[in-house]
Amino acid sequence: MNYDAKDILESINTAVLLADIQMRIVYANTAAEQLLGMSASKLCTIKITELIEKHQKNVIDIFKTAVKPNFQGFVASDIMIVSEGGHTQKVDMSLCLYTQRPRGIIVEMRSLDYQQKLNDDRQRRTQHLAARDLVRNLAHEIKNPLGGIRGAAQLLEMTLGNSSNVRDYTKVIIEQADRLKNLVDMLLGPQRPNPMTLDNIHYVIEKVLSLESMTPDIKVRFEKNYDPSLPEIDLDVDAMQQALINIINNAIQALSESNTKNPTIKIKTRAKLGAVLNGIKFPTSIAIDITDNGPGIPENIQQTLFYPMVTSRQNGNGLGLSIAQSIVERHKGTIEVNSIKGETTFTIMLPILKKGTNIQ
Ligand SMILES: Nc1ncnc2c1ncn2[C@@H]1O[C@H](COP(=O)(O)OP(=O)(O)O)[C@@H](O)[C@H]1O
Ligand SMILES: [Mg+2]
Repeated sequence: MNYDAKDILESINTAVLLADIQMRIVYANTAAEQLLGMSASKLCTIKITELIEKHQKNVIDIFKTAVKPNFQGFVASDIMIVSEGGHTQKVDMSLCLYTQRPRGIIVEMRSLDYQQKLNDDRQRRTQHLAARDLVRNLAHEIKNPLGGIRGAAQLLEMTLGNSSNVRDYTKVIIEQADRLKNLVDMLLGPQRPNPMTLDNIHYVIEKVLSLESMTPDIKVRFEKNYDPSLPEIDLDVDAMQQALINIINNAIQALSESNTKNPTIKIKTRAKLGAVLNGIKFPTSIAIDITDNGPGIPENIQQTLFYPMVTSRQNGNGLGLSIAQSIVERHKGTIEVNSIKGETTFTIMLPILKKGTNIQ
């Protein structure tokens, strides 16, 4: 066989770790690095039991017996493990003895949260696409007769001449038709997108922040935490700027409407390994976290937040997030939200693609 077993291990989606009989990790495959958010070399400086959340004494005990030659193996689900930065997650785990010399323990892990998230993502995406198609089709259907109504009102106005007070009515028809047309155009989204250029995402963020800081009476403090090593990616700069403005403006509005003390918006950029975006796994992606310390997203709109016309504001049109999502999707990325009282984070994920493969 010409295939190398180690290459196979590096290519699979299951995290595989090997520990020696002192429990020290001696090998971690790429999926393990991605699952735990640590490089193999860093993993090889710790003990495998340090990855198990410490309240699960029974699991730690099983590890201790696993190095004995008569160990039968162990399979369990719902094991909590601790990854980079103290984050915990649930995994399916199996242990078996590595019987070669020197002996060791082979640990396989699959993230349950990750499987759940993939399913949720798929379902949300299907629902969102269905809602978006519905809205777009409806918008098209409204747009056509609207042109006719406006044209007829204009003709009527011309026929009646200046003197008639019916003109007041035709004026209302024309104004309202224009208002509807603007709304429908926004629902349909940008018709001709701008070309993509290779740019640094921080350049776009900085542009947006300098625009925001020019808003009169702005009380919000911006905290920046950038990863300067992020590479340039293909961006529709104007559109991406719009997406960021929509998200940041929502945060500013939430902070000011709730009179939050020390209103703060944190913007953090990082590289993420192995993220799955719209069902495709990318080796590296850029994550942009926009976090505010406001009241959080109202419970009743959390599930439909990105649908057009979903708003909790009296004067809102509910289009900001829907437009932001369309823009990010054109960059093959996603927007995720995590919101609790006092901390709302919108995460824009953008894949780093090989040059020339980015955009249709
Ligand atoms: N950072 C945030 N904090 C609290 N609520 C938010 C935040 N961002 C968005 N929202 C909620 O999402 C809704 C939809 O936002 P959006 O699509 O921009 O429409 P609009 O701003 O017109 O309401 C908002 O009305 C608000 O309730
Ligand atoms: Mg908005």
